[in-house]
Amino acid sequence: MDHPIPVTFPPALAVFGQHRSVRFFLHEPLAPGDLDLIIEAGRRAPTDAQGHMYSFVRITDAARRDRLATLCANQQHIRDAAEFFIVCLDVHRLRRLIEQRGGEWGMRARIGLIYGATDATMVAQNMVVAAEALGYGTCYIGAVQNHTDLIAQELALPPGVLPLYGLCIGVIDPEKYPPVKPRIPRALCFFENSYPADFTPAELESAYAAMSVKRDWYESIRTYFAAGGTMAHREPVMARALRQQALDPQPV
Ligand SMILES: Cc1cc2nc3c(=O)[nH]c(=O)nc-3n(C[C@H](O)[C@H](O)[C@H](O)COP(=O)(O)O)c2cc1C
Repeated sequence: MDHPIPVTFPPALAVFGQHRSVRFFLHEPLAPGDLDLIIEAGRRAPTDAQGHMYSFVRITDAARRDRLATLCANQQHIRDAAEFFIVCLDVHRLRRLIEQRGGEWGMRARIGLIYGATDATMVAQNMVVAAEALGYGTCYIGAVQNHTDLIAQELALPPGVLPLYGLCIGVIDPEKYPPVKPRIPRALCFFENSYPADFTPAELESAYAAMSVKRDWYESIRTYFAAGGTMAHREPVMARALRQQALDPQPV
């Protein structure tokens, strides 16, 4: 099914049309008050059952920021950004709240992982949109998953808290502002009433055609998602981290 796609967003939605991940920042702080606005915009996100299953650790200590950057594939933009957060799913505080009133904790790891990641991500993305609306650049850092277990130790995260990714927010270097990246065709990811029986070769190639701007997109995604790629290497790290943070799903 073909959907007409607007080529320009109206002013109220312009921030979405302008999004690109920014990896080059000027060494300048955010304007006074802007960080509070960004955080409060984040905190207005919906939260499943009012559980607030997230925590954000703002990294202001330069030595700690440097160590985290090293653990996250040595990405320089982590060091350069005005602000850097480690975004965590967090069921520890909720458990403490239940126990505070004498309740017995009843949420196990599978559900906690899903809702914790969902809650945290809605807050993070609200912050991204707010920061970009204020003119800043942002970049998520999934490379946190290269060393989730060590990062949890570095931040003294208690059981029930798991680092998901980092979030850089900073002043854009205008000389290194990247172009907007494409997205796969809408018809391959928004469906009506049910999931398609299968993707045809032509449909799959339409995604490659849309995404292969400077180089073949396959070369990009296979380094992450094919056998032996980045994601496969992160699997044992995550297994360790889930055990360490008492979030390993147990048999039901
Ligand atoms: C969960 C998540 C993790 C990401 N991790 C990284 C990262 O470690 N380093 C980086 O430079 N960009 C990272 N990105 C940014 C993606 O590469 C970027 O969103 C994608 O290439 C699309 O480009 P765009 O955001 O400019 O549209 C991440 C994005 C997400 C959503």
